Amino acid sequence: MVWSLRALPELSDQQFAQWSKLLEERTGIQLAERQRAFLQTQIAIRMRELGYEDCGRYLEEVMRGVEGVVEWSMLVDRLVVKETSFFRHRPSVEYVRDLLQQRINNRSLSQSFDVWSVGCATGEEPYSLAMVVNDCFELAVLEPYYGITATDISKPALSRARKGEFPARKLESMKPQERQRYFRTTEDGCYRINAELRDRVCFSQGNVLQIADMPVVKMDVIFCQNLLIYFRRWRRREVLNGFVERLKPGGTLVIGLGEVVDWEHQHMQRVRDNHIQAYVRC
Ligand SMILES: C[S@@+](CC[C@H](N)C(=O)[O-])C[C@H]1O[C@@H](n2cnc3c(N)ncnc32)[C@H](O)[C@@H]1O
Repeated sequence: MVWSLRALPELSDQQFAQWSKLLEERTGIQLAERQRAFLQTQIAIRMRELGYEDCGRYLEEVMRGVEGVVEWSMLVDRLVVKETSFFRHRPSVEYVRDLLQQRINNRSLSQSFDVWSVGCATGEEPYSLAMVVNDCFELAVLEPYYGITATDISKPALSRARKGEFPARKLESMKPQERQRYFRTTEDGCYRINAELRDRVCFSQGNVLQIADMPVVKMDVIFCQNLLIYFRRWRRREVLNGFVERLKPGGTLVIGLGEVVDWEHQHMQRVRDNHIQAYVRC
């Protein structure tokens, strides 16, 4: 039979349980039974690419030594949802603009303004944050002392993010003046983010479950949206507790609206605004 027409290998209940467990242990992502077909397809495609016939053997390979680590980083990119867009939740991004503007107005800026986009996917979120931060410094005619750290578990997503090139449809959520100010068109009709803005964003691989290995700089803003929703509730709270340690005093944590409903922390105060979900470190 032609290789590509062969039926995809099916995951047994036990294999589905093993793969789901591995995914959750390593990324935090909890798969539902209805995502079984998705998991099965992604694993089968990868097995075909590598010439594996037996799903159990492939699992052993993924769990084995250094080669396993390399293979896992390929596979994980296929298993995570990387959907994102510029200004995906505009009120949250504009909130960052407002809080920086306020600090500039009150002359309460610290040496640099540091922002961390956690689970940054292909870069649209950190670049959106860089745009509003840059706007503020420019408007105030101040030297732009700021940096955006952007981390994600997926290496291929980070490579695309670093390139900073996007098809036209990706810019539809932006205002014309944002497009004009921060992008140039390429010969093939794509849009490339300006070098000055791209240089402000430092992309690196990071697993939010291993927060201790993540950026050491204390942050003015930690922005984490559409990532925790894939985690169990107890894990969401654990990750948020970890973020608190990474904030400067007075720093702000912005998460997706409604992504966590039962989190409180002695050092964090919820911002009174129904359009966003943010907490300030007191
Ligand atoms: C749906 S995207 C959200 C992107 C962006 N934050 C937004 O709201 O548009 C989720 C991202 O989280 C990343 N991710 C999943 N598990 C992760 C983990 N354990 N550590 C870091 N990033 C993770 C995925 O690779 C993916 O790029």
